Amino acid sequence: MQVHVIQRQYDEVIAPRYDFDPQSVIGDSLDLAIEQIRRQERDRDDGTSSYVLDLGVGTGRFFEKFRAHSSTPIHPYGLDISRKMIDVARGRIPDLVAAVEDAAHLDEQFPSISFDLICTHFITGFVPVGALAPKVWDKLGDGGVWSFVGGTKAGFPNLQRKAASLPLKKWLFGGSKLEVDDHVCNPADQDEVVRILEENGFAVCECETFCPNLHFNNLKDFMEFAYYGGWLTPFLEVLGLHKANWMIRTLLNALYFPMEDHHKIVVALARKP
Ligand SMILES: C[S@@+](CC[C@H](N)C(=O)[O-])C[C@H]1O[C@@H](n2cnc3c(N)ncnc32)[C@H](O)[C@@H]1O
Repeated sequence: MQVHVIQRQYDEVIAPRYDFDPQSVIGDSLDLAIEQIRRQERDRDDGTSSYVLDLGVGTGRFFEKFRAHSSTPIHPYGLDISRKMIDVARGRIPDLVAAVEDAAHLDEQFPSISFDLICTHFITGFVPVGALAPKVWDKLGDGGVWSFVGGTKAGFPNLQRKAASLPLKKWLFGGSKLEVDDHVCNPADQDEVVRILEENGFAVCECETFCPNLHFNNLKDFMEFAYYGGWLTPFLEVLGLHKANWMIRTLLNALYFPMEDHHKIVVALARKP
């Protein structure tokens, strides 16, 4: 997946709508991550401030929620490929120190800071967890923690099944491949996340799989969530679904909706020993 495509999609399509968070999947996942962090904090709450880096900071919702739930004073740092997402985050978190940069170049950013907490929340669909792990390690201080939240390939099973068996597939979508996994690089499941964290030297403190239910009344509902909300934007753009004409929309509404589905999201906390 090309970084400039993801950057354009976040700048032009997703940033203005991201915070609507239809069905509250992002907000609820971040809440679970914050509960994990707070349980670890309880053991070492000495009142000192923490340096926190959110990699793929997006619109800064994590920092807003974290500050509302934690008494630990923090110095917030963020990195994101999308300037528009960071603009929203800066409006929300005025003291955010932010860099518009590809996570692949993290090592060049924030030199000489040793972070106490690094978050990667919903970025491993774009940057593989195995590629992030050594970069997170290098930026964390000893005893620092990594808060991981990420979708898995096991998510959206109903959608994946329906896409595979859709009648008139070739006519509707031409040569486009209807495989979600060809357009996002999520880990397979919780076991894969734990294995990669451990292989990279981290001690996993907590790990769970969050399976929020999803309900889409019609194609419009689905597009609000999956295209404008960022969940499946690369996949849907390749299919051309964002430009579907009236006839295709009517056909898809009849064949697919209403639709029930669920996602599978890994929420983990790991420590650099
Ligand atoms: C689904 S959003 C998650 C935002 C935020 N972490 C949250 O939980 O709400 C993914 C974010 O990762 C950013 N992103 C995608 N690829 C990236 C890359 N290679 N380097 C840095 N940021 C990237 C996007 O611009 C977007 O803001």
